[in-house]
Amino acid sequence: MAELERYEGQATIEKVAALCRRRGFVYPSSDIYGGLGSAFDYGHYGVLLKQNVKAEWQRSMVQEREDIVLLDSAIILHPQVWVASGHVSGFSDPLVDCRACKLRFRADHLDASACGRKPSKHPGETPDCDLTEARQFNLMFETSIGPVREEGSVAYLRPETAQGIFVNFKNVTSSLRVKPPFGIAQIGKSFRNEITPGNFLFRTREFEQMEMEFFVPPADAEKWYEYWIAERRRWYLGLGMRESHLRVRAHDADELSHYSSGTSDLEYLFPIGWSELEGIANRGDYDLTAHAGQSGTKLEWIGHDERYVPYVIEPAAGADRAALAFLVDAYDEEEVSGDQRTVLRLHPRLAPVKAAVLPLIGKDEGMVGKARTLYEELRAAMSAEYDDSASIGKRYRRQDEIGTPWALTIDGQTLEDDTVTIRDRDTLSQARIPIAGAVRLLQERLGEPWTPRS
Ligand code: GAP
Repeated sequence: MAELERYEGQATIEKVAALCRRRGFVYPSSDIYGGLGSAFDYGHYGVLLKQNVKAEWQRSMVQEREDIVLLDSAIILHPQVWVASGHVSGFSDPLVDCRACKLRFRADHLDASACGRKPSKHPGETPDCDLTEARQFNLMFETSIGPVREEGSVAYLRPETAQGIFVNFKNVTSSLRVKPPFGIAQIGKSFRNEITPGNFLFRTREFEQMEMEFFVPPADAEKWYEYWIAERRRWYLGLGMRESHLRVRAHDADELSHYSSGTSDLEYLFPIGWSELEGIANRGDYDLTAHAGQSGTKLEWIGHDERYVPYVIEPAAGADRAALAFLVDAYDEEEVSGDQRTVLRLHPRLAPVKAAVLPLIGKDEGMVGKARTLYEELRAAMSAEYDDSASIGKRYRRQDEIGTPWALTIDGQTLEDDTVTIRDRDTLSQARIPIAGAVRLLQERLGEPWTPRS
């Protein structure tokens, strides 16, 4: 509760969304047409931030290990995939319509008193809404293949990346040097016709997932399930997420998906309260067995003296939701010398821009020349910016708001002794360093551990 109170004066979803729009991270989609509910377009800094989140995920899942390989499967798969996976019959939410106000709600999100006694849910505050019986509404987006829309042409936009991995199990095991325990990782777009999307990037109808299916001998499944819960928690903390904002919550038996014999959510303390950031599930042999049955292709591991259907442990994360959590976690407001400053204290590896090069006086040819030379050198090594507009204070504020960890300022002294000041976004400390070693110094700092303020 203390944490929620803290948020009241700091990050709210609205404040983070406003900063994202103002500074070119995320815009409402189709803005000039009035926007499309719960769809967003990423601007320059948002693209860089989300790319960094995905790159860090891939680094920890693939580059830093030798037991996980990559996949990028199609978004539109054979329709039978979704029959076997259980999505055609079971990927649905119960829906109720209100005959009076014509709105549609998830039945499991209304309490027994429903909308008549919850007028605030309705425009116009209709006090006597009249709900229909609940009916199941499938969340998959349907499309059709080919020029004629007919029964046999129906296909779906994938609602998760996981199934593309399961249906490639045979391809991967017969073409790559893998052996259980091993994993297949995939990052890509997924689509769900969510009935109640909302809270900015938290729940949208089009989003990116980062999923990894880890295939293990059945007897080892529990051990790997625990391993991946700990490992994924470590990943978020390693990227600076505050420990007090992250918790693991095991699903109760009645919450488990049809395929799961155990699921734990990593939950983040969003300003809306504790909510799922990522799910880690023990899917058993559900998926491989289901696809083997539907396709008629055996999906099993065959070793020298063994043959079995592996169990699957799945850490399933969302790139947009993780980006939102990192943004919320990093968002801070503070007073500096009587001025209010907003700052994104992003981990340097997640920050869209690592360093800004700022000539103190934008009209001074000497300073501009030195600054441009340093900038050219810096941007060959990392994402960097050059800015000679406005007052130095304004330029610092702008870099603070986009989360740039370091600013290198070229001033009169630079022209005399080839040193620059390096300003730290978080502590606001400034130090003079030789211009010659500046790029190397920042490269080293990017590789160092970083701790968020408490
Ligand atoms: N393959 C398992 C699976 O898809 P999920 O819990 O439905 O599990 C995994 O999704 C993650 O994908 C979630 O923890 C969340 O981060 C992200 N996610 C799911 N639906 C989302 C949505 N509508 N908008 C944004 N992110 C979403």
